[in-house]
Amino acid sequence: MRILGVIVAIVIVGLVFAGAVLLWPAQPLRTVTAAAQSPQLIAQGRYVATAADCIACHTVPGGEPFGGGRAFTLPFGTIYSPNITPDREHGIGTWTDAQFVRAIKAGVGHNGEELYPALPYTSYHRMSDADALAVKAYLFSLPPAATPSRPNNLAFPFNQRPLMRFWKLLFMPRHEFAADPRQSAQWNRGAYLVTAVAHCGECHTPRNLMYGVDNGRALAGETVQGWTAWNITSDPHHGLGGRGPDAVVAYLHYGYAPGIGAAGGPMKEAIDYSLSQLSTADLQAIAVYLASVRPQASGPLEGVVPQAVANSSPAWPSAGDPHTNAIGKRVFQGACAGCHAWNGKGQVTPLADLAGLRSVNHPKGLNVMQTILHGNSVSAPQGRAAMPAFAAGYSDAEIAALTNYVVGRFGGQNGSARPADVAKARMQ
Ligand code: HEC
Ligand code: HEC
Ligand code: HEC
Repeated sequence: MRILGVIVAIVIVGLVFAGAVLLWPAQPLRTVTAAAQSPQLIAQGRYVATAADCIACHTVPGGEPFGGGRAFTLPFGTIYSPNITPDREHGIGTWTDAQFVRAIKAGVGHNGEELYPALPYTSYHRMSDADALAVKAYLFSLPPAATPSRPNNLAFPFNQRPLMRFWKLLFMPRHEFAADPRQSAQWNRGAYLVTAVAHCGECHTPRNLMYGVDNGRALAGETVQGWTAWNITSDPHHGLGGRGPDAVVAYLHYGYAPGIGAAGGPMKEAIDYSLSQLSTADLQAIAVYLASVRPQASGPLEGVVPQAVANSSPAWPSAGDPHTNAIGKRVFQGACAGCHAWNGKGQVTPLADLAGLRSVNHPKGLNVMQTILHGNSVSAPQGRAAMPAFAAGYSDAEIAALTNYVVGRFGGQNGSARPADVAKARMQ
């Protein structure tokens, strides 16, 4: 009897849940006041669209700008970004201002359908209507691209767009951005850029099992596309505290700063397309805001005491695995020591310094592994340099051993990378 009661309860809860999802009204259109179209408005829109990095997601390499088609692979299928050029058939050329603002700030499509949060509307929700409309004016000033949008390929029940209503109920921010009068104009500008337009939290804030961002732990670090997006709160040990605003500004502009290292993967993309083009005043505002973000003593490096190990002897064994990581050491000697030296001090260029970086202090070594597999390049006042890709040259077992060797040698950490992790990272 008790079992029956539990089953009935589950069915009732399920029905109520389904009813709530289906009956919950879609976000209605609201009136927005458009500014007069002008070159200034288009220029403002171009800047906001750059800071919001619309182009990175809505363009495929070699494709028409904003023509869409970039694939977002999720555990339950693939979402493709649509064409957002002013093409009247394949793009958004027929959209009204109100529809555009609703799409990017509330995640509702042209016909009232729910959009997936791959479009970061949980952040753009905080964007001002004026900025959103400027972005529309800019997009509509560009040539239309007649590229058809690709349909998504999602498994049931994830292909049921109405389910997003329930998700939004739980995870949409309640408020738009409101300036804090107790803080300076610079701080407020930084807060607006970080939390709304440049959507740093979409990658740097931990997500829960339902993919909602955990704003209680804002910017405490998360894994994104197989990379670790570090804790960038003001915590001196786990976060950016102690790095100094100049280093943060330089990193966001060039993708490199001494002590932080070179940006790779999704962060490099954000810098190349977006952050490197922001004004110095805006990057300084971001640094000022980040320095005030509540410190979080958790995140990817939880329980790790970062070290900067610099021992120049090749005889030095890797931590935690003193005698058995012969494979890692052999590969390092043959493929890496020439540029990185045995002490992790860049042999040819300081850009290749490894000792003390977060990446080499992370036992999982995700970013180390990704850099080894896919290579990287950097161009900064300190010089230009590239790290070759080694994916083709070594097996999963060799790259896992090498990752653990690097993490052990230059971070003093006990690396936990496994060949299966490398196989996964090859795809990312
Ligand atoms: C992180 C990737 C990402 C970024 C950044 C992004 N988008 Fe998107 N956008 C998407 C994806 C993916 C979809 C499709 C969502 C879906 O199918 O539900 C989408 C959907 C849209 C739509 C709905 C189009 C339609 O045909 O339904 C519009 C409009 C849009 N984005 C505009 C923008 C603008 C403007 C920006 C910058 C302010 C932007 N996006 C930034 C990934 C992104
Ligand atoms: C698309 C995802 C993504 C977005 C958006 C993003 N980041 Fe990152 N960020 C990453 C990843 C991944 C790394 C690690 C890169 C590496 O180590 O090479 C990173 C690294 C960093 C670092 C270096 C931290 C360290 O100690 O090494 C800083 C600082 C940073 N991000 C700040 C920001 C700020 C500020 C924003 C918003 C303006 C932002 N990021 C937006 C993914 C992202
Ligand atoms: C031709 C010189 C060269 C070779 C060979 C080389 N690297 Fe690099 N590596 C660099 C440079 C330069 C950078 C910094 C700039 C960048 O990331 O593009 C770098 C960056 C890195 C980073 C990222 C550091 C960070 O900022 O987080 C890691 C990890 C790394 N290398 C490990 C290796 C390993 C392991 C090997 C051997 C398989 C190797 N490198 C071979 C030049 C090289």
